[in-house]
Amino acid sequence: MAYRILITMDDLEAAVRLNAAFEAAGFETSMVSAQDDAKAAVLRDDPDLVLLTGGLHEPAAARLLALVRDGRVATLGLLEPTEADPAAVTHRMGLTAAIAKPADPSDTVALCRRLIERKQLQERTGILGDHPAIQEVLIKIEQMAPVSSTVLIEGESGTGKELVARAIHELSPRRARPFIAVNCAALPETLLESELFGHEKGSFTDAVERRLGRFEIADTGTILLDEVGEMPPATQVKLLRVLEEREFFRVGGASPIKVDVRVVAATNRSLREAMATGDIRSDLYYRLNVLAIYLPPLRERRSDIPLLVRRFIHEFSKLHDRPFRGIEPAALQILVDSPWPGNVRQLRNLVESMVVLAPTSEIRPEDIPREIREPGRERLLPVRVPGMAREVAGQELTYIVQSLLDLRLQVEDLRRRLEDHPQRVEVIEVPHEAPDAEVVVSPSGMASRAGEGQLRPPRGRDAVVYEAGMSMADVERATIEAALAETRGNRRKAAEMLGIGERTLYRKLKEYEAEGGSISSLT
Ligand SMILES: Nc1ncnc2c1ncn2[C@@H]1O[C@H](COP(=O)(O)OP(=O)(O)OP(=O)(O)O)[C@@H](O)[C@H]1O
Ligand SMILES: [Mg+2]
Repeated sequence: MAYRILITMDDLEAAVRLNAAFEAAGFETSMVSAQDDAKAAVLRDDPDLVLLTGGLHEPAAARLLALVRDGRVATLGLLEPTEADPAAVTHRMGLTAAIAKPADPSDTVALCRRLIERKQLQERTGILGDHPAIQEVLIKIEQMAPVSSTVLIEGESGTGKELVARAIHELSPRRARPFIAVNCAALPETLLESELFGHEKGSFTDAVERRLGRFEIADTGTILLDEVGEMPPATQVKLLRVLEEREFFRVGGASPIKVDVRVVAATNRSLREAMATGDIRSDLYYRLNVLAIYLPPLRERRSDIPLLVRRFIHEFSKLHDRPFRGIEPAALQILVDSPWPGNVRQLRNLVESMVVLAPTSEIRPEDIPREIREPGRERLLPVRVPGMAREVAGQELTYIVQSLLDLRLQVEDLRRRLEDHPQRVEVIEVPHEAPDAEVVVSPSGMASRAGEGQLRPPRGRDAVVYEAGMSMADVERATIEAALAETRGNRRKAAEMLGIGERTLYRKLKEYEAEGGSISSLT
């Protein structure tokens, strides 16, 4: 099917010249002037690409871009030769690309074809972003998909490694065959080996029957070895054999099994460094690193944040059936400036929570959680254990340590119960040597990693004091009380602080009421 191009007539001479070139190349074209109804034109022509021939800084151009931005439509701007920096204009206006005039017709046609095909690839794979680093990733995916060579994908957590691995599989001739992901860090050595290679009946105590490994299940398809940098040394030797010989033995098996599996490995630590520290064998490193893709952290491609935010708002407002206008510029600015240690995953989860929780149909700065709005002020609800400042010895110390361990188990239980929510509560540290020690309960997720292992001073009014004999329910109730005190009774904010749904909070408050007594700080 012919690609459709909508050309603006701001620079009539360029528009006419390029229009002829596009028609000659088999594109369907239409033209729109600044006076025309751009919305009607976009709806009528349903273009694959909008080409702005001039007037990029005029309101009409901004209106036209707002109509097609963030969708499957590519946009190309032609800049005056005096315009210094095409990349800056691209970024500021949210264009897919910009080039300086005079635009060579055949180069422009070729560029537009590439931009359209790249956009279609992005729609198909879900990998969003106009940043050159992401465009480079897409080019690599296109190049690497057709072959069967091993691919190593490196990038921090949440940068899209699994998304890219799936895209490689989806674009490959193996697409109709299985795609199997195995997390190499999640299992101890023996289980991982039986997971990857299968086992024969009776090969170990629990092996009551023969089991196929993931490599066998993935035969003729693709296997994703996630967190490959964490693979135990003995398993590395076996993996190396698969990569070299394309065969392996089931655990307890005597005959080799041949497979045709494409291996994609992912890691959120540098595999070269893992090799330097001896965690990964060098022969395995070179076997895995045949083709490599690096996914940059989100903070290194901030120009993609507006696009990601708008797409996620669109996606989640549809999913949760909440009509949503979008985001205020000041709020978007805060998101653009944030460090995003959890990368796209963290941004996506945050947008989902804001779409669900924002009281108006537009995200405002005050709807953004405080630790994003005011970096450095982390959300902490410290639990202080009284008596720790005193000299403690013998039995008393044993008792306190025991209480701390119990408390840790209880809080972990709470964390499990909140697990359906992306921002969980987890005990970061249960210190038992330091005087003045306290148990810190803090939101988990990447945002709190920086504070991991540190002690925090209790924050006065909202400190939760743990006393021996308190049950989990008591700790939970005290924590909720502290959160409500902190937010002056604002339940929505309190729920957000605690990382639980507002409804869960309501239910718990109802339970407390039913038990007799209500929470004092509620207004
Ligand atoms: N470029 C992107 N465009 C759209 N969504 C993205 C992009 N990158 C990541 N995501 C989304 O972010 C989330 C995390 O992505 P993914 O699971 O692929 O990350 P990862 O690098 O494998 O993380 P981890 O190392 O923690 O396993 C997913 O919901 C994914 O859809
Ligand atoms: Mg992953």
